Amino acid sequence: MVRHFLDVGDLTAEELLAVLDRATTTKAALADGTSERPLADRTLAMVFEKPSTRTRVSFETGMTQLGGHAMFLGPEDIQLGHGEPLKDTARVLSRYVDVVMARLFDHADLEELAAHATVPVVNGLTDDAHPCQTLADLLTIREAFGGFDVDVTWIGDGNNVAQSFVLGCAMTGVDLTVVTPPGYAIDDDVLDRAAELGATPTLADDPADAARDADVVYTDVWVSMGQEDQRAEKLAAFEGFQVNEELLAGTDARVMHCLPAHRGEEITDAVLESDRALVWDQAENRMHAQKALLVTLLE
Ligand code: CP
Ligand code: NVA
Repeated sequence: MVRHFLDVGDLTAEELLAVLDRATTTKAALADGTSERPLADRTLAMVFEKPSTRTRVSFETGMTQLGGHAMFLGPEDIQLGHGEPLKDTARVLSRYVDVVMARLFDHADLEELAAHATVPVVNGLTDDAHPCQTLADLLTIREAFGGFDVDVTWIGDGNNVAQSFVLGCAMTGVDLTVVTPPGYAIDDDVLDRAAELGATPTLADDPADAARDADVVYTDVWVSMGQEDQRAEKLAAFEGFQVNEELLAGTDARVMHCLPAHRGEEITDAVLESDRALVWDQAENRMHAQKALLVTLLE
């Protein structure tokens, strides 16, 4: 049976921990020059409807390190988006490559791609989910704190990055509080799925209160890719939700952000440049976590 990774809950909790363990092992092997090349002669197709720095570069470099090859397919490179249906793209790519990673707007499109693919499909971000980010986030939390007995407060939009993180926390026991402005909450079906997977987050409405006892404060951009026409309305809705020194005053909280960051909006330059920031480890860990995921899906 083909295994897809469309959201974190596509792995069991045991498989999720095994992917993180494998990421830790391969990260150490890369550092000491003892890496293996388990994906020699394997090819990853990377389909992008939206821009990317981390996802594209971490997957492409990761495949090279694993001995395989990655192919970048942007919106202008393939017939998808120019009249060829997703299901045809899925079937044809499956005849050439061993695994597909796709960054699409609509999560239903990713599900359709996966439904017609005969090779594993990995979610590289949709409007609803960003599970590869969650793998890197959990790896980063475990490295920084030695485990998952950690209090994290999410402050900001309850969309893709937050929603996958909610599921990842449910599966690992991270104690999560989520603060979102009215209208930007985590979807109810994600909360239901989190309950099935282990735990729902605490939902709060005051960012400063929720940050007070946190080990980690995590935020994401206010205007996600594809929402540029909602910019004015979102900036107004997220007023008071900025992660800044005032919010963090009196706490030892570390700070996470999936990046790219919009300094001066959801987070300040001072916070990102401070010792609180775990963001560069998060970005690096995208590559280590995804390498482990790819090997797991293809073995
Ligand atoms: N965090 C993340 O997915 O970054 P990119 O948009 O640069 O890939
Ligand atoms: N929420 C952001 C995440 C980018 C990695 C977006 O969708 O643009």
